[in-house]
Amino acid sequence: MAKRFYITTPIYYVNSVPHVGHALTTMVCDATKRWHVMKGEDAFFLTGTDENGLKVMEAAEQAGETPQQFVDRISAIWSDAFDSLNIGYDVFFRTTSARHREASQALFTVLKDNGHIYLDKYEGWYDVSAETFVREADLVDGKSPDGNEVRWVEEENWFFRLSAFEKPLLEKIESGELLLLPEGRRNEVLSFVKQGLRDLCVSRSNPGWGIPVPGDEGKVIYVWFDALINYLAATGWPAAGWEKLWPADVHWMAKEIFTRFHATLWPAMLMGAGLPLPKTVIAHGWFTFNESKMSKSKGNVVSHVDVVKRFEEAGCTHELAVDVLRYCLVKALPYDNDTNFTMSEIERIYNADLANDLGNALNRTLTMAHKFVDGVVPDGACDSAATASVAACKARFEEAMKTHQLNDALDAAVDAARFLNKYVDEKAPWALAKSGDASLAEVVRSILFLLRSAEGMVRPFVPSTADAIAIQLGLTPLSDWKSIGEESSLPAGTKVGQPVPMFPRLEAKVQTGTSAPQSQEKKKVQTEEKKSEFIEFADFMKVELRVARIMEAEPVEGSDKLMKLQVKVGDEKRQILAGIKQKYSAEDLIGRQVVVVANLKPRKMMGHESQGMVLAADDAVGQAILLEPDKEAPEGTSVH
Ligand code: MSP
Repeated sequence: MAKRFYITTPIYYVNSVPHVGHALTTMVCDATKRWHVMKGEDAFFLTGTDENGLKVMEAAEQAGETPQQFVDRISAIWSDAFDSLNIGYDVFFRTTSARHREASQALFTVLKDNGHIYLDKYEGWYDVSAETFVREADLVDGKSPDGNEVRWVEEENWFFRLSAFEKPLLEKIESGELLLLPEGRRNEVLSFVKQGLRDLCVSRSNPGWGIPVPGDEGKVIYVWFDALINYLAATGWPAAGWEKLWPADVHWMAKEIFTRFHATLWPAMLMGAGLPLPKTVIAHGWFTFNESKMSKSKGNVVSHVDVVKRFEEAGCTHELAVDVLRYCLVKALPYDNDTNFTMSEIERIYNADLANDLGNALNRTLTMAHKFVDGVVPDGACDSAATASVAACKARFEEAMKTHQLNDALDAAVDAARFLNKYVDEKAPWALAKSGDASLAEVVRSILFLLRSAEGMVRPFVPSTADAIAIQLGLTPLSDWKSIGEESSLPAGTKVGQPVPMFPRLEAKVQTGTSAPQSQEKKKVQTEEKKSEFIEFADFMKVELRVARIMEAEPVEGSDKLMKLQVKVGDEKRQILAGIKQKYSAEDLIGRQVVVVANLKPRKMMGHESQGMVLAADDAVGQAILLEPDKEAPEGTSVH
């Protein structure tokens, strides 16, 4: 029986609702699962909700619902949120399910039978909000270390002999049998265990909600104790077949529930029951906002819904707007340290990576394929520089995934598109076409190959984007990991589609003070006046004219005239809007040299910023005739 690759998120509390912090962990697991599936593995991905505990009962009461109505309603909010983010979980596991109750009671019984759970009297402070006992010495101004109210309790309870697992735990961690990541957090766990583990109270008096302690119905199992068991319960344990999933290959979470729960208590529980340990337990840092942890109670959360809406408004389709969030979550993954995750950071990542790197690569590649090779994938082999670059990106991706550094893996994937853009600039296919250079077909094939490979590598993170690229390439999705980097992934003779812009660039929020519309009459008078005026030579010299190269061109949607151009002026890249759409297609423009006014005050046209002006004459019907240097001139050369 082949074991399935098993990956889990924490199960989330139903007394809160999802935000980008939860989306982060869930997205990281989703991408990991998709990658394993691409490698041909049978992968299984669990997420779900943590629904027991006194806090839930209290939240239900406040909402005027029964606990069951409450958990059903909130749990659906979580699963709907993950569905809306295209999260491909295999099970949405709930701790109020009969399956979970059965497994939790069974594990409790096994631990008790093995002598690891005993009855004792507890007298001390209890933090209801965190559902934990607090030592007198740990109280701060009469409150718990988290600042919560505490109440005195005296009750007989069940205790788990955690102290007995210090040594075996250290052995498992130090030998690497239980892999804790990242390194820094692993060290924290080691020193935590070395300071000594205390036995843990694992029952509470039964408030009428929770999982009853087997044989002692007046008590329920401590909510953290039952919550951890969810990972095992979902495998079907103790019924036959659980080994097909267990042990988990990866438990992902954030740092606050790593040391005390997932990296110590949970492995100890499993050892006590004679069960295999998870292979890897890994914790990332937090998304913060103004230096404090993003959380609903602090009211400082970025909502996933707002992010998706923002990019739909910017012109992305719904699926691609979801991918924007998915992309930004992984890109910003706080692997070691915390990350301030704000809408402006999301916008910055979007412009740099999605609109510029990936979006440009797609747009340029398809436009050039149409311009230079009639829109048909050339045969022959790719330039070895392109295949070597893909091989290097793929190797870096795989290496990063070994330590679950998904942010690095994503970067390696997008580097294939970045290489593409550099390669186009260096090879200048327009110059090859002009001089009739025989290498043109190989260069275009290489560019298409780089785009095809990027499509495959970004797929685990942004599946809708990858699909959109595949469709535009005229190919079926590249979803077999092995094929990435193979020449056969790009069959010669394929008819490529037309470029469809995926990620419109967000314009800088600079108000350029566009003047109020003027009447036609007033405009005419002003033009006449201008014509009769002479200007000083010094005035003319104020106009900075330069040679520029059009790198990309895209018609502005909703405008009859405007083309959006990305031009290179020396080392600088600019966006210029030009009213030349009726005369020139994108293919006609890419690679062409033009003359631009380089020091014109930026202004907005149809919602897009124009950072200059392209010089053109008018033909008989007032349409543009572009000015072009008589022969190629270095880009940025000034014109007088
Ligand atoms: N129910 C427990 C987990 C039990 S697992 C057996 C719990 N739930 S929670 O709803 O509070 O979810 C905590 C997890 O949500 C974190 O460990 C992390 O995965 C994710 N995050 C919640 N807020 C986050 C940030 N601000 N930043 C990063 N991750 C965040 O704890």
